[in-house]
Amino acid sequence: MEFIEQLKSSVDVVRVIGDYVQLRRVGGGPRYTGLCPFHNEKTASFSVHSQHQFYKCFGCDAHGDVLTFVMEMERFTFWEAVKYLAERHGIPLPKRSEHSDEETRHRAALHEMHDIAARVFRETLLGEAGAEARRYLARRGVTAEAAEAFGLGISDRGGTQLARIYQRKGFTEADMEASGLVLRRQDGSGFFDRFRGRLMFPIHSESGQVIAFGGRAMAEGDEPKYLNSSETPIYRKSHVLYNLNRARKAMQQQGFTVLVEGYMDVIGVAAAGIDNVVATCGTALTAFQVRAMRRHAPAVALNFDPDEAGMKAAERSSQTLLEEGVRLKVLELSGGLDPDEYIQTHGVDAYRTALNQAPGFFPWLAGRARERFDLKTPEGRSGAFQFLLPVIHRLPDKVERLAVAEDMADTLSIPKGMVLDEFKRAAAERKTARAPARAELPDPSELLLLNGLLTSGAVREEVGPALAGMDLQGLLKTGRIVETILKMAAGGESPGFGAVSARLEEADRRLLGALLEADEILRDPPSVAQAAEIVKKLAGARAQSGREEMKRRIREAERAGDLRRALELTAALQEMEQRG
Ligand code: UTP
Ligand code: MN
Repeated sequence: MEFIEQLKSSVDVVRVIGDYVQLRRVGGGPRYTGLCPFHNEKTASFSVHSQHQFYKCFGCDAHGDVLTFVMEMERFTFWEAVKYLAERHGIPLPKRSEHSDEETRHRAALHEMHDIAARVFRETLLGEAGAEARRYLARRGVTAEAAEAFGLGISDRGGTQLARIYQRKGFTEADMEASGLVLRRQDGSGFFDRFRGRLMFPIHSESGQVIAFGGRAMAEGDEPKYLNSSETPIYRKSHVLYNLNRARKAMQQQGFTVLVEGYMDVIGVAAAGIDNVVATCGTALTAFQVRAMRRHAPAVALNFDPDEAGMKAAERSSQTLLEEGVRLKVLELSGGLDPDEYIQTHGVDAYRTALNQAPGFFPWLAGRARERFDLKTPEGRSGAFQFLLPVIHRLPDKVERLAVAEDMADTLSIPKGMVLDEFKRAAAERKTARAPARAELPDPSELLLLNGLLTSGAVREEVGPALAGMDLQGLLKTGRIVETILKMAAGGESPGFGAVSARLEEADRRLLGALLEADEILRDPPSVAQAAEIVKKLAGARAQSGREEMKRRIREAERAGDLRRALELTAALQEMEQRG
Protein backbone atom coordinates (compact mmCIF):
# COMPACT_ATOMS: atom_id res chain seq x y z
CA MET A 1 0.00 0.00 0.00
CA GLU A 2 3.01 2.24 0.34
CA PHE A 3 2.96 2.63 -3.41
CA ILE A 4 -0.65 3.79 -3.33
CA GLU A 5 0.19 6.52 -0.84
CA GLN A 6 3.13 7.58 -2.95
CA LEU A 7 0.94 7.64 -6.04
CA LYS A 8 -1.74 9.71 -4.36
CA SER A 9 0.73 12.22 -3.09
CA SER A 10 2.34 12.73 -6.48
CA VAL A 11 -0.91 13.22 -8.39
CA ASP A 12 -2.73 16.53 -8.27
CA VAL A 13 -6.40 15.85 -7.57
CA VAL A 14 -7.42 19.24 -8.93
CA ARG A 15 -5.81 18.55 -12.28
CA VAL A 16 -7.20 15.05 -12.57
CA ILE A 17 -10.74 16.07 -11.61
CA GLY A 18 -10.41 19.22 -13.71
CA ASP A 19 -10.32 17.00 -16.78
CA TYR A 20 -13.84 15.86 -15.99
CA VAL A 21 -15.45 18.81 -14.23
CA GLN A 22 -15.15 22.48 -14.89
CA LEU A 23 -13.61 23.76 -11.64
CA ARG A 24 -13.35 27.28 -10.34
CA ARG A 25 -10.90 28.32 -7.64
CA VAL A 26 -12.49 29.83 -4.56
CA GLY A 27 -10.92 33.12 -3.48
CA GLY A 28 -7.38 32.17 -4.46
CA GLY A 29 -7.35 29.49 -1.76
CA PRO A 30 -6.80 25.73 -1.87
CA ARG A 31 -10.45 24.95 -2.59
CA TYR A 32 -12.09 24.58 -6.01
CA THR A 33 -15.78 24.16 -6.79
CA GLY A 34 -17.87 22.94 -9.70
CA LEU A 35 -21.03 21.08 -10.61
CA CYS A 36 -21.07 17.64 -9.02
CA PRO A 37 -20.54 14.88 -11.59
CA PHE A 38 -22.33 12.36 -9.41
CA HIS A 39 -25.73 13.97 -9.20
CA ASN A 40 -27.79 16.47 -11.10
CA GLU A 41 -27.45 20.02 -9.84
CA LYS A 42 -27.54 23.57 -11.04
CA THR A 43 -25.45 25.29 -8.41
CA ALA A 44 -22.03 24.04 -7.49
CA SER A 45 -21.90 22.02 -4.28
CA PHE A 46 -18.93 19.94 -5.33
CA SER A 47 -15.57 20.86 -3.80
CA VAL A 48 -12.04 19.76 -4.50
CA HIS A 49 -9.30 20.53 -2.01
CA SER A 50 -5.86 20.84 -3.49
CA GLN A 51 -4.20 20.78 -0.11
CA HIS A 52 -5.95 17.80 1.39
CA GLN A 53 -6.25 16.10 -2.00
CA PHE A 54 -9.85 15.05 -1.70
CA TYR A 55 -13.25 15.92 -3.15
CA LYS A 56 -16.61 16.16 -1.52
CA CYS A 57 -20.11 17.01 -2.66
CA PHE A 58 -22.33 18.73 -0.16
CA GLY A 59 -25.35 17.80 -2.23
CA CYS A 60 -25.04 14.04 -2.59
CA ASP A 61 -22.14 13.48 -0.23
CA ALA A 62 -20.00 11.80 -2.84
CA HIS A 63 -16.45 12.08 -1.57
CA GLY A 64 -13.08 10.49 -1.75
CA ASP A 65 -9.60 10.80 -3.15
CA VAL A 66 -8.18 10.88 -6.63
CA LEU A 67 -8.37 7.09 -6.93
CA THR A 68 -12.01 6.79 -5.98
CA PHE A 69 -12.77 9.63 -8.35
CA VAL A 70 -11.35 7.96 -11.45
CA MET A 71 -12.84 4.64 -10.34
CA GLU A 72 -16.27 6.18 -10.30
CA MET A 73 -15.93 8.31 -13.41
CA GLU A 74 -14.35 5.65 -15.59
CA ARG A 75 -15.90 2.68 -13.80
CA PHE A 76 -12.41 1.36 -13.28
CA THR A 77 -11.54 -1.33 -10.79
CA PHE A 78 -9.16 -0.21 -8.07
CA TRP A 79 -6.11 -1.53 -9.92
CA GLU A 80 -7.18 -0.04 -13.21
CA ALA A 81 -7.40 3.34 -11.52
CA VAL A 82 -3.97 2.88 -10.00
CA LYS A 83 -2.50 1.84 -13.33
CA TYR A 84 -4.18 4.67 -15.20
CA LEU A 85 -2.96 7.38 -12.84
CA ALA A 86 0.53 5.92 -12.57
CA GLU A 87 0.91 5.72 -16.34
CA ARG A 88 -0.38 9.23 -16.90
CA HIS A 89 2.08 10.61 -14.39
CA GLY A 90 5.08 8.57 -15.41
CA ILE A 91 5.25 6.68 -12.15
CA PRO A 92 6.56 3.13 -12.61
CA LEU A 93 4.18 0.47 -11.33
CA PRO A 94 5.50 -2.14 -8.94
CA LYS A 95 5.70 -5.55 -10.62
CA ARG A 96 2.72 -7.85 -10.52
CA SER A 97 0.29 -5.32 -9.15
CA GLU A 98 -1.43 -4.96 -12.47
CA HIS A 99 -3.51 -8.08 -12.63
CA SER A 100 -4.22 -8.45 -9.01
CA ASP A 101 -7.81 -9.61 -9.47
CA GLU A 102 -9.58 -11.59 -12.18
CA GLU A 103 -11.94 -8.78 -13.16
CA THR A 104 -9.03 -6.42 -13.73
CA ARG A 105 -7.15 -9.05 -15.71
CA HIS A 106 -10.15 -9.79 -17.90
CA ARG A 107 -10.84 -6.12 -18.55
CA ALA A 108 -7.17 -5.48 -19.28
CA ALA A 109 -7.33 -8.27 -21.87
CA LEU A 110 -10.37 -6.62 -23.48
CA HIS A 111 -8.58 -3.27 -23.59
CA GLU A 112 -5.56 -4.89 -25.16
CA MET A 113 -7.70 -6.63 -27.76
CA HIS A 114 -9.27 -3.28 -28.66
CA ASP A 115 -5.87 -1.61 -28.90
CA ILE A 116 -4.66 -4.36 -31.17
CA ALA A 117 -7.78 -4.11 -33.33
CA ALA A 118 -7.42 -0.33 -33.68
CA ARG A 119 -3.80 -0.74 -34.72
CA VAL A 120 -4.52 -3.53 -37.17
CA PHE A 121 -7.47 -1.67 -38.74
CA ARG A 122 -5.33 1.41 -39.12
CA GLU A 123 -2.44 -0.51 -40.71
CA THR A 124 -4.84 -2.20 -43.12
CA LEU A 125 -6.20 1.17 -44.21
CA LEU A 126 -2.70 2.52 -44.80
CA GLY A 127 -1.53 -0.63 -46.59
CA GLU A 128 -2.19 -2.08 -50.01
CA ALA A 129 -5.63 -3.40 -49.14
CA GLY A 130 -6.66 0.09 -48.10
CA ALA A 131 -6.38 1.85 -51.44
CA GLU A 132 -10.08 1.76 -52.21
CA ALA A 133 -11.03 2.89 -48.70
CA ARG A 134 -8.55 5.76 -48.93
CA ARG A 135 -10.22 6.85 -52.16
CA TYR A 136 -13.60 6.60 -50.44
CA LEU A 137 -12.39 8.86 -47.60
CA ALA A 138 -10.88 11.34 -50.02
CA ARG A 139 -14.13 11.45 -51.97
CA ARG A 140 -15.94 12.25 -48.76
CA GLY A 141 -13.53 15.02 -47.86
CA VAL A 142 -11.78 13.24 -45.00
CA THR A 143 -8.10 14.19 -45.16
CA ALA A 144 -5.30 11.84 -44.19
CA GLU A 145 -4.69 14.04 -41.12
CA ALA A 146 -8.32 13.79 -40.01
CA ALA A 147 -8.29 10.03 -40.57
CA GLU A 148 -5.20 9.80 -38.39
CA ALA A 149 -6.56 12.08 -35.68
CA PHE A 150 -9.67 9.91 -35.41
CA GLY A 151 -7.76 6.66 -35.73
CA LEU A 152 -9.85 5.51 -38.71
CA GLY A 153 -9.09 2.13 -40.19
CA ILE A 154 -10.65 -0.72 -42.11
CA SER A 155 -11.41 -4.27 -41.15
CA ASP A 156 -10.06 -7.07 -43.32
CA ARG A 157 -12.47 -8.68 -45.78
CA GLY A 158 -11.20 -12.17 -45.11
CA GLY A 159 -12.78 -12.39 -41.68
CA THR A 160 -9.97 -14.14 -39.81
CA GLN A 161 -7.34 -11.43 -39.37
CA LEU A 162 -8.12 -10.48 -35.77
CA ALA A 163 -9.19 -13.94 -34.70
CA ARG A 164 -5.81 -15.30 -35.75
CA ILE A 165 -3.86 -12.58 -33.99
CA TYR A 166 -5.80 -13.06 -30.76
CA GLN A 167 -5.30 -16.80 -30.91
CA ARG A 168 -1.59 -16.39 -31.46
CA LYS A 169 -1.30 -13.96 -28.56
CA GLY A 170 -2.96 -16.48 -26.28
CA PHE A 171 -6.12 -14.66 -25.24
CA THR A 172 -8.51 -17.04 -23.52
CA GLU A 173 -11.75 -18.10 -25.17
CA ALA A 174 -13.65 -16.23 -22.49
CA ASP A 175 -11.73 -13.04 -23.32
CA MET A 176 -12.40 -13.51 -27.03
CA GLU A 177 -16.07 -14.22 -26.53
CA ALA A 178 -16.54 -11.19 -24.29
CA SER A 179 -14.65 -8.81 -26.57
CA GLY A 180 -17.37 -8.68 -29.20
CA LEU A 181 -14.62 -8.27 -31.79
CA VAL A 182 -14.60 -11.91 -32.80
CA LEU A 183 -17.45 -14.42 -32.86
CA ARG A 184 -17.44 -18.15 -32.20
CA ARG A 185 -18.01 -20.32 -35.23
CA GLN A 186 -21.30 -22.22 -35.34
CA ASP A 187 -19.52 -25.55 -35.33
CA GLY A 188 -17.42 -24.48 -32.36
CA SER A 189 -14.13 -24.62 -34.25
CA GLY A 190 -12.59 -21.34 -33.21
CA PHE A 191 -13.46 -17.73 -33.96
CA PHE A 192 -13.91 -15.31 -36.87
CA ASP A 193 -13.91 -11.51 -37.08
CA ARG A 194 -17.13 -9.64 -36.40
CA PHE A 195 -16.23 -6.65 -38.58
CA ARG A 196 -15.33 -7.43 -42.19
CA GLY A 197 -14.54 -4.99 -44.96
CA ARG A 198 -15.84 -1.95 -43.10
CA LEU A 199 -14.54 1.53 -42.42
CA MET A 200 -13.76 1.42 -38.70
CA PHE A 201 -14.30 4.29 -36.25
CA PRO A 202 -12.69 3.62 -32.87
CA ILE A 203 -14.86 4.76 -29.97
CA HIS A 204 -12.96 5.97 -26.91
CA SER A 205 -13.71 6.23 -23.23
CA GLU A 206 -13.54 9.69 -21.75
CA SER A 207 -9.93 9.08 -20.77
CA GLY A 208 -9.06 8.02 -24.29
CA GLN A 209 -8.96 4.22 -24.26
CA VAL A 210 -10.42 2.42 -27.26
CA ILE A 211 -13.48 0.59 -25.93
CA ALA A 212 -15.60 -0.10 -29.01
CA PHE A 213 -15.94 0.43 -32.75
CA GLY A 214 -18.46 1.66 -35.24
CA GLY A 215 -18.06 0.04 -38.64
CA ARG A 216 -19.47 1.72 -41.75
CA ALA A 217 -20.24 -0.15 -44.93
CA MET A 218 -18.43 1.41 -47.86
CA ALA A 219 -20.49 0.06 -50.76
CA GLU A 220 -23.95 1.48 -51.50
CA GLY A 221 -26.63 -0.91 -50.36
CA ASP A 222 -24.37 -2.86 -48.03
CA GLU A 223 -26.47 -3.52 -44.92
CA PRO A 224 -26.46 -2.49 -42.19
CA LYS A 225 -24.95 0.90 -42.94
CA TYR A 226 -23.27 0.89 -39.55
CA LEU A 227 -22.41 -2.16 -37.55
CA ASN A 228 -21.60 -1.13 -33.98
CA SER A 229 -19.87 -2.94 -31.14
CA SER A 230 -22.24 -4.61 -28.76
CA GLU A 231 -22.03 -3.92 -25.04
CA THR A 232 -19.09 -5.50 -23.24
CA PRO A 233 -17.64 -5.22 -19.74
CA ILE A 234 -15.71 -2.15 -20.97
CA TYR A 235 -18.40 -0.58 -23.16
CA ARG A 236 -21.76 0.69 -22.06
CA LYS A 237 -23.38 2.51 -24.95
CA SER A 238 -25.71 4.63 -22.90
CA HIS A 239 -22.78 6.20 -21.08
CA VAL A 240 -20.43 6.96 -23.93
CA LEU A 241 -20.23 9.93 -26.25
CA TYR A 242 -18.24 9.68 -29.44
CA ASN A 243 -15.26 12.08 -29.39
CA LEU A 244 -15.74 13.25 -25.77
CA ASN A 245 -12.11 12.35 -25.04
CA ARG A 246 -10.90 14.84 -27.66
CA ALA A 247 -13.67 17.41 -27.26
CA ARG A 248 -13.80 17.93 -23.52
CA LYS A 249 -11.09 20.54 -23.26
CA ALA A 250 -12.65 22.67 -25.99
CA MET A 251 -16.06 22.16 -24.37
CA GLN A 252 -14.71 23.65 -21.16
CA GLN A 253 -13.09 26.53 -23.01
CA GLN A 254 -16.08 27.34 -25.22
CA GLY A 255 -18.73 26.77 -22.58
CA PHE A 256 -20.88 24.70 -24.90
CA THR A 257 -21.01 21.43 -26.79
CA VAL A 258 -22.06 20.88 -30.38
CA LEU A 259 -24.15 17.70 -30.42
CA VAL A 260 -24.47 16.04 -33.83
CA GLU A 261 -25.91 12.72 -34.96
CA GLY A 262 -23.21 10.87 -36.80
CA TYR A 263 -19.58 9.85 -36.56
CA MET A 264 -19.01 11.47 -39.96
CA ASP A 265 -20.53 14.72 -38.72
CA VAL A 266 -18.20 14.78 -35.74
CA ILE A 267 -15.22 14.28 -37.99
CA GLY A 268 -16.37 16.91 -40.49
CA VAL A 269 -17.05 19.51 -37.80
CA ALA A 270 -13.90 18.80 -35.78
CA ALA A 271 -11.69 18.70 -38.85
CA ALA A 272 -12.94 22.18 -39.68
CA GLY A 273 -11.55 23.38 -36.37
CA ILE A 274 -14.63 23.23 -34.17
CA ASP A 275 -13.35 20.82 -31.57
CA ASN A 276 -16.19 20.88 -29.04
CA VAL A 277 -18.31 18.37 -30.94
CA VAL A 278 -19.66 14.97 -29.85
CA ALA A 279 -22.27 12.43 -30.95
CA THR A 280 -24.05 9.46 -29.46
CA CYS A 281 -23.08 6.08 -30.89
CA GLY A 282 -26.27 5.18 -32.69
CA THR A 283 -28.59 5.21 -29.67
CA ALA A 284 -31.05 7.67 -28.19
CA LEU A 285 -29.46 10.31 -25.98
CA THR A 286 -29.50 9.35 -22.29
CA ALA A 287 -29.37 11.37 -19.09
CA PHE A 288 -25.91 9.91 -18.42
CA GLN A 289 -24.61 11.35 -21.65
CA VAL A 290 -26.20 14.71 -20.98
CA ARG A 291 -24.58 14.84 -17.57
CA ALA A 292 -21.24 13.99 -19.11
CA MET A 293 -21.61 17.01 -21.38
CA ARG A 294 -22.79 19.23 -18.58
CA ARG A 295 -19.78 18.43 -16.45
CA HIS A 296 -17.73 20.29 -19.03
CA ALA A 297 -20.06 22.97 -20.28
CA PRO A 298 -23.51 24.26 -19.34
CA ALA A 299 -24.87 24.73 -22.87
CA VAL A 300 -25.52 22.51 -25.87
CA ALA A 301 -26.09 23.39 -29.51
CA LEU A 302 -28.16 20.63 -31.02
CA ASN A 303 -27.32 20.13 -34.67
CA PHE A 304 -29.13 17.08 -35.98
CA ASP A 305 -29.77 16.06 -39.56
CA PRO A 306 -32.52 18.11 -41.19
CA ASP A 307 -34.52 15.04 -42.24
CA GLU A 308 -37.56 13.58 -40.55
CA ALA A 309 -35.50 11.09 -38.51
CA GLY A 310 -33.20 13.89 -37.38
CA MET A 311 -36.15 16.06 -36.32
CA LYS A 312 -37.64 13.20 -34.32
CA ALA A 313 -34.28 12.55 -32.68
CA ALA A 314 -33.90 16.27 -31.96
CA GLU A 315 -37.29 16.35 -30.27
CA ARG A 316 -36.50 13.32 -28.14
CA SER A 317 -33.01 14.48 -27.26
CA SER A 318 -34.17 17.98 -26.40
CA GLN A 319 -36.47 16.53 -23.75
CA THR A 320 -33.61 14.76 -22.06
CA LEU A 321 -31.42 17.83 -22.35
CA LEU A 322 -34.05 20.13 -20.87
CA GLU A 323 -34.84 17.74 -18.05
CA GLU A 324 -31.19 17.79 -17.10
CA GLY A 325 -31.19 21.57 -17.01
CA VAL A 326 -29.02 22.19 -20.07
CA ARG A 327 -29.13 25.57 -21.79
CA LEU A 328 -30.16 24.54 -25.25
CA LYS A 329 -29.78 26.06 -28.71
CA VAL A 330 -30.93 24.45 -31.93
CA LEU A 331 -28.98 24.74 -35.13
CA GLU A 332 -31.10 23.84 -38.12
CA LEU A 333 -29.05 24.05 -41.28
CA SER A 334 -30.54 25.29 -44.50
CA GLY A 335 -30.74 23.31 -47.71
CA GLY A 336 -31.41 19.95 -46.09
CA LEU A 337 -27.72 19.41 -45.39
CA ASP A 338 -26.26 17.58 -42.42
CA PRO A 339 -23.36 19.24 -40.57
CA ASP A 340 -20.70 17.40 -42.53
CA GLU A 341 -22.26 18.17 -45.91
CA TYR A 342 -22.95 21.77 -44.93
CA ILE A 343 -19.31 22.42 -44.13
CA GLN A 344 -18.19 20.69 -47.33
CA THR A 345 -20.60 22.81 -49.34
CA HIS A 346 -20.51 26.21 -47.65
CA GLY A 347 -17.28 26.18 -45.70
CA VAL A 348 -16.59 26.41 -42.00
CA ASP A 349 -17.14 30.16 -41.72
CA ALA A 350 -20.73 29.83 -42.86
CA TYR A 351 -21.17 27.00 -40.36
CA ARG A 352 -19.71 29.08 -37.56
CA THR A 353 -22.04 31.94 -38.39
CA ALA A 354 -25.04 29.62 -38.38
CA LEU A 355 -23.86 28.21 -35.06
CA ASN A 356 -23.53 31.65 -33.51
CA GLN A 357 -26.94 32.69 -34.75
CA ALA A 358 -28.71 29.52 -33.71
CA PRO A 359 -31.85 30.37 -31.72
CA GLY A 360 -32.52 29.15 -28.20
CA PHE A 361 -34.62 26.03 -27.96
CA PHE A 362 -37.91 27.73 -27.11
CA PRO A 363 -37.75 30.42 -29.78
CA TRP A 364 -36.90 27.62 -32.21
CA LEU A 365 -39.84 25.56 -31.03
CA ALA A 366 -42.10 28.60 -31.25
CA GLY A 367 -40.96 28.87 -34.86
CA ARG A 368 -42.07 25.29 -35.45
CA ALA A 369 -45.40 26.10 -33.82
CA ARG A 370 -45.75 29.07 -36.12
CA GLU A 371 -45.46 26.76 -39.12
CA ARG A 372 -48.15 24.50 -37.77
CA PHE A 373 -50.72 26.95 -36.44
CA ASP A 374 -52.34 30.04 -37.80
CA LEU A 375 -51.34 32.64 -35.26
CA LYS A 376 -53.68 35.20 -36.70
CA THR A 377 -56.63 33.47 -35.06
CA PRO A 378 -57.14 33.07 -31.30
CA GLU A 379 -57.68 29.31 -31.80
CA GLY A 380 -54.39 29.05 -33.65
CA ARG A 381 -52.52 30.95 -30.92
CA SER A 382 -54.03 28.83 -28.20
CA GLY A 383 -53.22 25.68 -30.19
CA ALA A 384 -49.64 26.79 -30.51
CA PHE A 385 -49.43 27.45 -26.81
CA GLN A 386 -50.87 24.02 -26.03
CA PHE A 387 -48.23 22.56 -28.33
CA LEU A 388 -45.47 24.28 -26.40
CA LEU A 389 -46.75 23.63 -22.90
CA PRO A 390 -45.78 19.99 -22.40
CA VAL A 391 -42.25 20.85 -23.38
CA ILE A 392 -42.14 23.81 -21.04
CA HIS A 393 -43.31 21.57 -18.24
CA ARG A 394 -40.21 19.46 -18.66
CA LEU A 395 -37.97 22.22 -17.41
CA PRO A 396 -36.73 21.11 -14.01
CA ASP A 397 -36.73 24.59 -12.53
CA LYS A 398 -40.08 25.98 -11.42
CA VAL A 399 -39.12 29.60 -11.80
CA GLU A 400 -37.67 29.05 -15.22
CA ARG A 401 -40.79 27.15 -16.28
CA LEU A 402 -42.97 30.08 -15.49
CA ALA A 403 -40.60 32.57 -17.06
CA VAL A 404 -40.43 30.64 -20.32
CA ALA A 405 -44.21 30.16 -20.36
CA GLU A 406 -44.77 33.89 -19.94
CA ASP A 407 -42.24 34.60 -22.61
CA MET A 408 -43.92 32.23 -25.02
CA ALA A 409 -47.36 33.58 -24.17
CA ASP A 410 -46.00 37.01 -24.94
CA THR A 411 -44.72 36.02 -28.36
CA LEU A 412 -48.02 34.35 -29.16
CA SER A 413 -50.16 37.11 -27.63
CA ILE A 414 -51.75 34.73 -25.16
CA PRO A 415 -53.26 36.39 -22.06
CA LYS A 416 -51.14 35.97 -18.89
CA GLY A 417 -54.13 34.67 -16.94
CA MET A 418 -54.33 31.66 -19.18
CA VAL A 419 -50.70 30.83 -18.49
CA LEU A 420 -51.25 30.83 -14.75
CA ASP A 421 -54.37 28.69 -15.03
CA GLU A 422 -52.47 26.20 -17.12
CA PHE A 423 -49.73 26.04 -14.56
CA LYS A 424 -52.08 25.45 -11.67
CA ARG A 425 -53.72 22.62 -13.57
CA ALA A 426 -50.37 21.11 -14.51
CA ALA A 427 -49.12 21.35 -10.93
CA ALA A 428 -52.18 19.47 -9.71
CA GLU A 429 -51.66 16.79 -12.37
CA ARG A 430 -48.04 16.51 -11.48
CA LYS A 431 -48.98 15.70 -7.90
CA THR A 432 -51.44 12.95 -8.79
CA ALA A 433 -49.09 11.53 -11.36
CA ARG A 434 -46.31 11.22 -8.84
CA ALA A 435 -48.31 9.74 -6.00
CA PRO A 436 -48.13 6.07 -7.02
CA ALA A 437 -44.43 6.29 -7.67
CA ARG A 438 -43.84 7.54 -4.15
CA ALA A 439 -45.70 4.60 -2.69
CA GLU A 440 -43.03 2.36 -4.18
CA LEU A 441 -40.25 4.15 -2.37
CA PRO A 442 -38.65 2.34 0.53
CA ASP A 443 -39.65 3.60 3.96
CA PRO A 444 -37.65 6.45 5.52
CA SER A 445 -35.55 4.33 7.86
CA GLU A 446 -34.49 2.11 4.98
CA LEU A 447 -33.45 5.19 3.02
CA LEU A 448 -31.57 6.54 5.97
CA LEU A 449 -29.72 3.26 6.34
CA LEU A 450 -28.88 3.21 2.63
CA ASN A 451 -27.54 6.73 2.90
CA GLY A 452 -25.35 5.71 5.85
CA LEU A 453 -24.03 2.66 4.02
CA LEU A 454 -23.21 4.70 0.94
CA THR A 455 -21.49 7.54 2.69
CA SER A 456 -20.03 6.42 5.99
CA GLY A 457 -17.29 3.87 6.54
CA ALA A 458 -18.07 3.92 10.26
CA VAL A 459 -21.69 2.97 9.61
CA ARG A 460 -20.62 0.16 7.31
CA GLU A 461 -18.25 -1.24 9.89
CA GLU A 462 -20.81 -1.03 12.65
CA VAL A 463 -23.79 -2.61 10.93
CA GLY A 464 -22.23 -4.53 8.05
CA PRO A 465 -21.70 -7.79 9.95
CA ALA A 466 -25.27 -7.86 11.29
CA LEU A 467 -26.70 -7.10 7.85
CA ALA A 468 -24.55 -9.72 6.17
CA GLY A 469 -26.44 -12.48 7.99
CA MET A 470 -29.90 -11.32 6.91
CA ASP A 471 -32.11 -12.08 3.94
CA LEU A 472 -31.69 -8.53 2.67
CA GLN A 473 -33.62 -9.05 -0.53
CA GLY A 474 -36.59 -10.30 1.44
CA LEU A 475 -36.47 -7.50 3.98
CA LEU A 476 -35.55 -4.44 1.95
CA LYS A 477 -36.66 -2.87 -1.29
CA THR A 478 -33.05 -1.82 -1.66
CA GLY A 479 -31.82 -5.28 -0.65
CA ARG A 480 -29.67 -5.93 -3.69
CA ILE A 481 -28.21 -2.44 -3.52
CA VAL A 482 -27.26 -2.96 0.11
CA GLU A 483 -25.74 -6.34 -0.74
CA THR A 484 -23.66 -4.73 -3.43
CA ILE A 485 -22.40 -2.06 -1.05
CA LEU A 486 -21.44 -4.65 1.55
CA LYS A 487 -19.70 -6.81 -1.02
CA MET A 488 -17.69 -3.86 -2.32
CA ALA A 489 -16.74 -2.75 1.16
CA ALA A 490 -15.67 -6.28 2.06
CA GLY A 491 -13.46 -6.31 -1.03
CA GLY A 492 -11.77 -3.09 0.05
CA GLU A 493 -13.55 -0.97 -2.54
CA SER A 494 -15.06 2.38 -1.73
CA PRO A 495 -18.81 2.07 -2.33
CA GLY A 496 -19.54 5.62 -3.49
CA PHE A 497 -22.72 6.35 -5.35
CA GLY A 498 -21.26 6.09 -8.83
CA ALA A 499 -19.25 2.95 -8.19
CA VAL A 500 -22.20 1.16 -6.61
CA SER A 501 -24.53 2.28 -9.36
CA ALA A 502 -22.15 0.94 -11.98
CA ARG A 503 -22.33 -2.53 -10.47
CA LEU A 504 -26.09 -2.78 -10.28
CA GLU A 505 -28.51 -4.40 -12.67
CA GLU A 506 -30.70 -2.03 -14.62
CA ALA A 507 -33.75 -2.13 -12.30
CA ASP A 508 -31.72 -1.43 -9.18
CA ARG A 509 -29.71 1.21 -10.92
CA ARG A 510 -32.94 2.93 -11.80
CA LEU A 511 -34.17 2.61 -8.23
CA LEU A 512 -30.99 4.12 -6.85
CA GLY A 513 -31.12 6.88 -9.47
CA ALA A 514 -34.77 7.58 -8.65
CA LEU A 515 -33.99 7.83 -4.94
CA LEU A 516 -31.20 10.23 -5.64
CA GLU A 517 -33.26 12.31 -8.00
CA ALA A 518 -36.17 12.44 -5.58
CA ASP A 519 -33.68 13.75 -3.03
CA GLU A 520 -34.69 10.82 -0.87
CA ILE A 521 -31.22 9.84 0.14
CA LEU A 522 -29.71 13.27 0.22
CA ARG A 523 -30.75 14.13 3.75
CA ASP A 524 -28.08 13.92 6.45
CA PRO A 525 -26.63 10.45 6.87
CA PRO A 526 -27.51 8.66 10.10
CA SER A 527 -25.13 8.48 13.03
CA VAL A 528 -23.61 5.09 13.77
CA ALA A 529 -26.02 4.66 16.66
CA GLN A 530 -29.03 5.51 14.51
CA ALA A 531 -27.94 3.05 11.85
CA ALA A 532 -27.48 0.34 14.48
CA GLU A 533 -30.98 1.07 15.76
CA ILE A 534 -32.46 0.66 12.26
CA VAL A 535 -30.67 -2.64 11.78
CA LYS A 536 -31.91 -3.86 15.14
CA LYS A 537 -35.47 -3.11 14.09
CA LEU A 538 -34.84 -4.98 10.85
CA ALA A 539 -33.64 -7.98 12.81
CA GLY A 540 -36.83 -7.66 14.86
CA ALA A 541 -38.92 -7.62 11.72
CA ARG A 542 -37.12 -10.68 10.53
CA ALA A 543 -37.82 -12.51 13.80
CA GLN A 544 -41.42 -11.39 13.60
CA SER A 545 -41.84 -12.76 10.11
CA GLY A 546 -40.11 -15.95 11.24
CA ARG A 547 -42.68 -16.34 14.02
CA GLU A 548 -45.57 -15.68 11.64
CA GLU A 549 -44.24 -18.34 9.32
CA MET A 550 -43.94 -20.79 12.22
CA LYS A 551 -47.54 -20.13 13.30
CA ARG A 552 -48.70 -20.72 9.77
CA ARG A 553 -46.94 -24.04 9.64
CA ILE A 554 -48.41 -25.08 13.00
CA ARG A 555 -51.92 -24.36 11.74
CA GLU A 556 -51.16 -26.32 8.62
CA ALA A 557 -49.93 -29.31 10.60
CA GLU A 558 -53.05 -29.17 12.83
CA ARG A 559 -55.31 -29.03 9.83
CA ALA A 560 -53.55 -32.01 8.35
CA GLY A 561 -54.02 -33.87 11.60
CA ASP A 562 -50.28 -34.22 12.15
CA LEU A 563 -50.34 -33.55 15.85
CA ARG A 564 -46.80 -34.60 16.52
CA ARG A 565 -45.46 -32.16 13.98
CA ALA A 566 -47.69 -29.41 15.38
CA LEU A 567 -46.28 -30.00 18.84
CA GLU A 568 -42.71 -29.96 17.62
CA LEU A 569 -43.33 -26.71 15.83
CA THR A 570 -44.99 -25.18 18.85
CA ALA A 571 -41.98 -26.04 20.96
CA ALA A 572 -39.72 -24.41 18.37
CA LEU A 573 -41.92 -21.33 18.35
CA GLN A 574 -41.75 -21.03 22.12
CA GLU A 575 -38.01 -21.28 21.98
CA MET A 576 -37.92 -18.53 19.36
CA GLU A 577 -40.07 -16.28 21.49
CA GLN A 578 -37.92 -16.81 24.55
CA ARG A 579 -34.85 -15.88 22.58
CA GLY A 580 -36.76 -12.72 21.67
P1 UTP B 1 -26.08 8.58 -40.43
O1 UTP B 1 -26.76 7.62 -41.34
O2 UTP B 1 -26.47 10.02 -40.54
O3 UTP B 1 -24.52 8.37 -40.57
O4 UTP B 1 -26.37 8.05 -38.99
P2 UTP B 1 -23.27 9.36 -40.67
O5 UTP B 1 -22.35 9.04 -39.54
O6 UTP B 1 -23.70 10.74 -40.81
O7 UTP B 1 -22.55 8.81 -41.93
P3 UTP B 1 -22.68 9.25 -43.42
O8 UTP B 1 -22.34 10.69 -43.49
O9 UTP B 1 -24.07 8.96 -43.87
O10 UTP B 1 -21.69 8.36 -44.05
C1 UTP B 1 -26.00 8.79 -37.85
C2 UTP B 1 -25.46 7.86 -36.81
O11 UTP B 1 -26.41 6.89 -36.47
C3 UTP B 1 -25.78 5.66 -36.17
C4 UTP B 1 -24.29 5.91 -36.30
O12 UTP B 1 -23.79 6.26 -35.03
C5 UTP B 1 -24.25 7.08 -37.24
O13 UTP B 1 -23.05 7.81 -37.12
N1 UTP B 1 -26.22 4.60 -37.09
C6 UTP B 1 -26.68 4.88 -38.34
C7 UTP B 1 -26.15 3.30 -36.68
O14 UTP B 1 -25.74 3.02 -35.55
N2 UTP B 1 -26.54 2.29 -37.53
C8 UTP B 1 -26.97 2.56 -38.80
O15 UTP B 1 -27.28 1.60 -39.54
C9 UTP B 1 -27.06 3.88 -39.19
MN1 MN C 1 -25.37 11.76 -41.27
